[in-house]
Amino acid sequence: MTRTAAGAKGASSLGLVRPFVRQYSPRLVGGLAALLAVDLLQLGIPRFVKKAVDLLRGGTASQIALAQIALAIFLLALGIAGCRFVWRYLILGFSRLVERDLRDDFFRHLLILDRPFFQKKPVGAIMALATNDLAAVQLAGGMGLVACADAAIMGIAALACMAYINPHLTLIAVIPMPLLALLTRVLSARLHRRFLKVQEQFSHLTEFARSTITGIRLLKAFPISGLVGNTSLLLAIFFGGRLVILGTITVGDFVAFISYLYMLTWPMMAVGWVVNLFQRGLTSLGRLDEVMQASPTLADPEQSVSFPVGPTEISLRNLHFQYEGQGQPALAEMSCVIRPGEIVGLVGRSGSGKSTLCHLLARQYPVEDGAIFLNGADINRLSLASVRERVAYVPQDVLLFSDTVAANIGFGNPAASQEQIVDAAKICRIHEEILGFSEGYQTRIGERGVKLSGGQRQRIALARAILLDRPLLIIDDSLSAVDLETEQEIISGLAIFLPGRTCLIVSHRITPLRNAARIMVLEEGRLVAQGNHAELLATSPFYRTMYHQQQMHREEEL
Ligand SMILES: Nc1ncnc2c1ncn2[C@@H]1O[C@H](COP(=O)(O)OP(=O)(O)O)[C@@H](O)[C@H]1O
Ligand SMILES: [Mg+2]
Repeated sequence: MTRTAAGAKGASSLGLVRPFVRQYSPRLVGGLAALLAVDLLQLGIPRFVKKAVDLLRGGTASQIALAQIALAIFLLALGIAGCRFVWRYLILGFSRLVERDLRDDFFRHLLILDRPFFQKKPVGAIMALATNDLAAVQLAGGMGLVACADAAIMGIAALACMAYINPHLTLIAVIPMPLLALLTRVLSARLHRRFLKVQEQFSHLTEFARSTITGIRLLKAFPISGLVGNTSLLLAIFFGGRLVILGTITVGDFVAFISYLYMLTWPMMAVGWVVNLFQRGLTSLGRLDEVMQASPTLADPEQSVSFPVGPTEISLRNLHFQYEGQGQPALAEMSCVIRPGEIVGLVGRSGSGKSTLCHLLARQYPVEDGAIFLNGADINRLSLASVRERVAYVPQDVLLFSDTVAANIGFGNPAASQEQIVDAAKICRIHEEILGFSEGYQTRIGERGVKLSGGQRQRIALARAILLDRPLLIIDDSLSAVDLETEQEIISGLAIFLPGRTCLIVSHRITPLRNAARIMVLEEGRLVAQGNHAELLATSPFYRTMYHQQQMHREEEL
């Protein structure tokens, strides 16, 4: 995307922050007023300095007069400090509030997006949006806004005061100034690009690094700005000094003029910096907007049927499914019925479509009408929430949180008692091992806690799903890291502990499913055989080969 295209897109994305700007506008207006006050008070100081210098020079200075001027300057400084506190508090607070609300919105939106979206947007990209891009927006809305307003007020006011002293001298002294704006702009853009390059390499460089680099950038900008500023000073001293000698302006005017010139340095630098800040903020806003505009692929039907209660029957009628951008269907011509309360095994080689079927049943990808029926109702007619409330799904790659073992098992069921948690753990053959941890069920998992083996993680995730106590349980090869005997024991246990629950158990190994009443065999997205273990051995050459291969493999391992 070119810079301008991103900028233009960003501009239309301003709608994203408009409601917050409106909501916090009193803060913003108050802050800008305080900023204006700071600048006006600041402009007052050189006027008092001029008075003092002229008094001293004229030999009419009395101690009292000087003390009065000193007091006035002190009061001005006090006022400046107070107002500066107020604007910082209000405007930076404003930008933080906008950032917070935007982040909330962004996060809420992520929650409604579904699997197809997250497949296109990797986690890293979303993390970058939630950190760097939001920070860029915050920076533009906070410091960017302040610098912009400040530069405008200070710049115009300082120029006006200088012109009031002497317009010609003002013109001469500001000649080098535009160079300053240009320099900061080029320099800050260059350093930002370098920062992006660094960031690409260290994907988790965060706010700290960003602010450090911004700091370096400003430090580098200052020596050069000093040079430009000093050129202005040189011009002012040379030509201004002449005016003093000629008596066109007083010495006090001369001193005040130079003070104003100093005040002009910052606004000039700010111009370049602010342009970059805004540009970056807009680009980031555009990127955030892109996600905010994305809508979930799966939508609730206009008139949803409520999910029929009780044990669940699954019926597939000539189910086809193809992932976006794939040439081959992942599932094809799939028809079968899984009766309420039945426990069915699903086997097949890697890539045969087992996980795909699980995803479709858990309603994670859209399917065509008339292909999947739950208790006789087309899955597309059921509300998303009602499907997800009925299905307990254990994915192939389980996810645990860095929390206690008990909290991880009870995650989906906050009302679960300790006994229920223990029971679920027992069904999953993990209870004894949990008792062996230093703090039993209260042991923390993760970085600062116990390191679990893959099999332990899987069994804890399964216990979580069992505790959900849903009528339909889908286990997607979630016991692959558990030894064969234990997997078999767990699967046999499910029938006893979960009477009436329909259960689809995927396993890439046949042995643990040997006792299942029915096993379905998938090959390249097609259901090629079904029956119990003995029947399949007798009727399906594919199944037989697969089984013998696994047996041989196992013997080799032993
Ligand atoms: N998210 C995806 N996008 C595109 N193709 C996919 C995706 N997930 C799986 N596939 C493809 O669909 C087929 C079935 O995959 P999958 O259901 O994961 O098989 P299994 O679980 O049996 O190993 C494979 O060819 C795989 O490459
Ligand atoms: Mg799989």
